[in-house]
Amino acid sequence: MTVANAEIEIHTYLAAGDERALADDVLDGLTRPFKELPPKHFYDARGADLFDRICDLPEYYPTRAERAILRERAAEIVELTGAAEIVELGSGTAAKTRILLDAMQEAGTLRRYVPLDVTESMILDTAATLVEEYPGLLVHGIVGDFERHLHHLPAALGPRLVVFLGGTIGNFTPGSRRRFLRGLARAMGTDDHLLLGTDLVKDPALLEAAYNDSDGVTAEFNRNVLHVVNRELAADFAVEAFDHVAFFDREREWIEMRLRASSRQHVHIGALGIDVVFEPREELRTEISAKFTRERLEGDLAAAGLELERVLSDDDELFAVSLSRPRT
Ligand SMILES: C[S@@+](CC[C@H](N)C(=O)[O-])C[C@H]1O[C@@H](n2cnc3c(N)ncnc32)[C@H](O)[C@@H]1O
Repeated sequence: MTVANAEIEIHTYLAAGDERALADDVLDGLTRPFKELPPKHFYDARGADLFDRICDLPEYYPTRAERAILRERAAEIVELTGAAEIVELGSGTAAKTRILLDAMQEAGTLRRYVPLDVTESMILDTAATLVEEYPGLLVHGIVGDFERHLHHLPAALGPRLVVFLGGTIGNFTPGSRRRFLRGLARAMGTDDHLLLGTDLVKDPALLEAAYNDSDGVTAEFNRNVLHVVNRELAADFAVEAFDHVAFFDREREWIEMRLRASSRQHVHIGALGIDVVFEPREELRTEISAKFTRERLEGDLAAAGLELERVLSDDDELFAVSLSRPRT
């Protein structure tokens, strides 16, 4: 589907609910010896709302820290990059992006915003709101998967700032992370920069609190993937029979989120014609969120052919936003 008017163009590369990708992931992930599903399936409209609520939780420091860095350094980022457009991967509600758009408008360079997200409602709402907020802004929205659809990015209108915020890069395992960054570097021009948000290694108690909030919003977000599978693939998960688990793996330095069956569960997945059994206390891994050191960040960027130019952090060094560009 393509929607277009003078300021807004939206291109959709996912079929409704993207059943093909979800079905393949569920078939793969639930028939493994250790069950696992990729985190992108959390984000239907309800999952996206729950994530927004997580961002406002007192325990969830990453959003606040990343916002503080952007507020402090946006003008410098715009000056360094001369960016005329922002390409944002996993754009969500683009809440923090407005800080960068404001700085670009202030500098007189702002021409276009290119958000890419799996959640169609987010892209449509963001496009409609931003053209109101920034008169003259062009929005080229992509409803797609940043692992599969980077080749659909439109030709650049000028130097691009490719923005990947929220620590979403941490959802990749280390090898996939480098493969993804390498693909991203290839999709960038020599005038482009990558602005990457990464959560930092820190006191495990602080990390674990951020993923185990006292209101249970993260638990609801975690269980939302089971609602998505029930709805999209005619499955019958008893969602409340799965407990939220989140812990810091000190060896791998990543947070793991899992869902643990409180009793033996027998699940029928109608669209796949399969039955899956969970033994009591058996776990399904739903997300990893890797935490970074300067060395890990430098190593990943270098392996992808990206040269690190700046690492910006907040006063408490909780989070980092880095600026890098393709090595020439
Ligand atoms: C952790 S949230 C971050 C949202 C926002 N960038 C922020 O910093 O608050 C991850 C976002 O990436 C999107 N997303 C996750 N996996 C994706 C994928 N494979 N392709 C495109 N978007 C994806 C989700 O829909 C969600 O909006």
